[in-house]
Amino acid sequence: MSAPNTEGKTSGAGALLKVAGLGAGYGGMPVLSDVSLAVSKAEIVALVGGNGAGKTTLLRALSRVIGSTGAIAFSGRDIAPMTPDEAFAAGLVHVPEGRQLFDRMSVEDNLLMGAYRRDDDQAVGRDLERMYGLFPRLGERRRQLAGSLSGGEQQMCAMARGLMAAPVLLMIDEMSLGLAPVVVEQLMEVLGAIRAQGVTILLVEQDVHLALSVADRGYVMESGRIVHQGAAKDLIDDPAVRRAYLGL
Ligand SMILES: Nc1ncnc2c1ncn2[C@@H]1O[C@H](COP(=O)(O)OP(=O)(O)OP(=O)(O)O)[C@@H](O)[C@H]1O
Ligand SMILES: [Mg+2]
Repeated sequence: MSAPNTEGKTSGAGALLKVAGLGAGYGGMPVLSDVSLAVSKAEIVALVGGNGAGKTTLLRALSRVIGSTGAIAFSGRDIAPMTPDEAFAAGLVHVPEGRQLFDRMSVEDNLLMGAYRRDDDQAVGRDLERMYGLFPRLGERRRQLAGSLSGGEQQMCAMARGLMAAPVLLMIDEMSLGLAPVVVEQLMEVLGAIRAQGVTILLVEQDVHLALSVADRGYVMESGRIVHQGAAKDLIDDPAVRRAYLGL
């Protein structure tokens, strides 16, 4: 893997995901307005912002769970008319806020649910073992009910379930929320490994410093709009971002 190139990617030319002028909301109440962003292949892009900024709403629009206006291109295809299942089949996989596991199913059955669209049983079996390599704790607990896992293990299970879909783009909502720093550290290492395997990552976080420390580029959202964007290292140094989000 060559080092990620963070130069010249903000234009969205040749991007894996390109969003332009997106608007979305709930029941006629607008939440997002004029959101534009781009994610290139094998990048880690952070989408950060405070409570209620609209981050989850944007992920829901990208995974087509809610409707939106504006343009969304993914792998060169217009996905705006797609159903959530079609967007998922195209490789756009959402690891939801709050993990949303099947609590009464085993870890392994949760992982297999992620692969429900795949019929290549041998490859699915290999991917299952690959997940237990990435997350050894899940391997040890493969027969345990997901509902009985610790918070960190549940997040691992949710990420592994998403990866079992063989995603092109993995969108992870609030990966670190409520987890101990040592667990967050492990998850961050896994993000690097996932990216090295060619999966592109859109990481949504309230923890701005954490997300920008692992990402190549970032977008800062406030009140449904993108208010800052750029290379993650530049955003960390940006006085406005530091004042508003980093308590500096
Ligand atoms: N199902 C819903 N129905 C109506 N309004 C909603 C719904 N979900 C979210 N909202 C509203 O949309 C706005 C954006 O919420 P969203 O969950 O996208 O923010 P967020 O950036 O993900 O916040 P957090 O960091 O707390 O997860 C908020 O004002 C919220 O109240
Ligand atoms: Mg959210």
